Amino acid sequence: MRFDPNLDAESGPNIDHLLRANFPTEFEANLVEILRSSKRICAEHGLWDKGALAGYIAYSPVRVDGVDSKRQIWGLGPMAIDADHQRQGHGKRFLGESLDYIEVDAVVLLGHGEFYTKHGFRPAADFGLHFGDDRTRENAFFALECWKGALEGHRGRVIYEDVFYRE
Ligand SMILES: CC(C)(COP(=O)(O)OP(=O)(O)OC[C@H]1O[C@@H](n2cnc3c(N)ncnc32)[C@H](O)[C@@H]1OP(=O)(O)O)[C@@H](O)C(=O)NCCC(=O)NCCS
Repeated sequence: MRFDPNLDAESGPNIDHLLRANFPTEFEANLVEILRSSKRICAEHGLWDKGALAGYIAYSPVRVDGVDSKRQIWGLGPMAIDADHQRQGHGKRFLGESLDYIEVDAVVLLGHGEFYTKHGFRPAADFGLHFGDDRTRENAFFALECWKGALEGHRGRVIYEDVFYRE
């Protein structure tokens, strides 16, 4: 498996295929297509297995409502590992490599807590951050300080790119 921190424009069909195959709806595939075409992706990483894309992670910018900050905070997602490669430790390694590669102050995400807390993510509520009014999503909302104190003074609602809120 090869970690690729520089996915190019031509990787679009591979990304689309992976996301459509590994999420229950088209939401993530459509989301990434829009973020890519509007150049709103800060970084995207791939995991290749013999020419096939077996893993994908995207980051896009977020801000904390009402906080005037110079800190760089990225929203991680979507992340996917191809079904044939899941539950074999690839996701854990891939996420570690990806987080080591990026240079930001903090990362937030909506996702499976059991998976992401192994990488130091904590409930975003611990930092006073929340996603919105939807309680079910609040429980799946996590944050990581890339250095201790990075999220100090950053309390409130995290605002993603508009496309994240489309149904
Ligand atoms: C979630 C996902 C990225 C995990 O990747 P993976 O390669 O299967 O995960 P790993 O094998 O590296 O697992 C690492 C650890 O997380 C746990 N884990 C993995 N997937 C999990 C899940 N869906 N829920 C809870 N725990 C999970 C594993 O048990 C493992 O624990 P261990 O270290 O104690 O053994 C992958 O299953 C996936 O792409 N799923 C479909 C799309 C999706 O749901 N994306 C994430 C949206 S948040």
